[in-house]
Amino acid sequence: MTIKTNKPSEKNRVLIFDTTLRDGEQSPGATMTLSEKIEIASLLDEMGVDIIEAGFPIASEGDFEAVTEIAKAAPNTVICGLARASFGDIDRCWEAVKNARQPRIHTFIGTSPLHREFQVQMDMDTMAQRIHDTVTYARNLCDNVQWSPMDATRTEDDYLVRVCEIAIKAGATTINIPDTVGYTAPSESADIIRMLLERVPGMDEIVIATHCHNDLGMATANALAAVDAGARQIECTINGLGERAGNTALEEVVMAMRVRHDIMPYHNNIDTTKIMQASRLVATVSGFAVQFNKAIVGKNAFAHESGIHQDGMLKHSGTFEIMRPEDIGLSETVLVMGKHSGRAALRSKLENLGYSLGDNQLKDVFVRFKALADRKKEIFDDDLIALMTDSDANTPNDIIQVKTLRVVCGTEGPQTADLTLEVGGESHKVTATGDGPVDAVFNAIKMVFPHDAKLALYQVHAVTEGTDAQATVSVRMEEDGKIVTGQSSDTDTVVASAKAYVNALNKLIVRRAKTAPAALT
Ligand code: KIV
Ligand code: ZN
Repeated sequence: MTIKTNKPSEKNRVLIFDTTLRDGEQSPGATMTLSEKIEIASLLDEMGVDIIEAGFPIASEGDFEAVTEIAKAAPNTVICGLARASFGDIDRCWEAVKNARQPRIHTFIGTSPLHREFQVQMDMDTMAQRIHDTVTYARNLCDNVQWSPMDATRTEDDYLVRVCEIAIKAGATTINIPDTVGYTAPSESADIIRMLLERVPGMDEIVIATHCHNDLGMATANALAAVDAGARQIECTINGLGERAGNTALEEVVMAMRVRHDIMPYHNNIDTTKIMQASRLVATVSGFAVQFNKAIVGKNAFAHESGIHQDGMLKHSGTFEIMRPEDIGLSETVLVMGKHSGRAALRSKLENLGYSLGDNQLKDVFVRFKALADRKKEIFDDDLIALMTDSDANTPNDIIQVKTLRVVCGTEGPQTADLTLEVGGESHKVTATGDGPVDAVFNAIKMVFPHDAKLALYQVHAVTEGTDAQATVSVRMEEDGKIVTGQSSDTDTVVASAKAYVNALNKLIVRRAKTAPAALT
């Protein structure tokens, strides 16, 4: 059996299909703005991702525009848009991807008994006909068509064989086998791929993809097992972002194939030294912080706390480390600078951390760096990363800006906030009280900018150790089904809270201008 990929001669080449901007963005609260999506897409392109699933063009004007713009920002990758099994979806998808250098239409339908009966209400024959018609239609528009039987792992084998054969005959060039609800296990994941290769005529002539969700914590293992059985495209997201428990994490499958090449002799095109940068960017943009013990990219993934481990590491790093921090672009966290450090040193340090800045941006960040250095003796890598995040999140172009804030708090209430907020260039000064300083500040903001958005999450985490550490605050807000996340960092937790709240409101203003998404998967 020969397995075809983009380069047919490379039978062990695994294509990396990143769906951070589509499946990842579907996780509640992970909504991203256009410029954030473009920034992520160009980094994915730079790091060697083969296919970027850029969005679901029929979902909203915003998604459509994002897919169109990403096609320009990521010239080296295949740009894929998602479409349900309907001509309208496929037309809209094609409109969005058609100007990409390498466009792909990805169309899907739920094939399991539950999906057939309850989600799309179609019997087997009607669905088979629909698959034939929609894949044929997509293939007439685009040479590169991916088809997915959603909930494949809970679809009857015979029906899965039947529909895969129809899709291949209709012209699908990639068949993706999704474990939509994270239900399968490694042995079964491999068995399904083997079964399809054995029973579906032409299955060995197209690329087989695996798309796993992590509901039982097995997404990475399931994806790799599918590859062992013959799949040659892994669908994944940075940090494992995605619906519910997320998708297969890109960094995990890529590093697993690299570290255990002896038993998984597959290769891919990813520049692993960009992994940390991508992880930080996605965490910042989505507002989904990476758990400390997350494999590969967690803060503790390379930390050695116990005496025995530290002793071993000093003697030989291989004693307790199976990969080097630098393999994923992680430089040692060291004390970087203080208030006497200059602009060139800051630029070089930021470049080490993966940020390349133009002169104007550097000027702005340098001012913020000096202000931080005045308040905080020691500045670590994580402080600089928080500073960069904040510079991206709160810009002078924002409609609402925090100008001044003074808070009275302590054992004797009421806690009071005196706030000056600028809205559309007009200054407003208010005083509000609340149940604690943060509540007082949020009440003050609401006095100036009344809204009905619900506060869905308020989260604080310390960037580094010490009482002078910066706090990064995330604020998630929900209004009419639209969810946005604001973020800010400051050595003053209450100031960071005010700015994070305002950042969320600014994003909400942008979202309001866009049409509401249609009901989708
Ligand atoms: O999980 C899933 O089944 C999907 C499909 C749209 C491929 O995301
Ligand atoms: Zn999915």
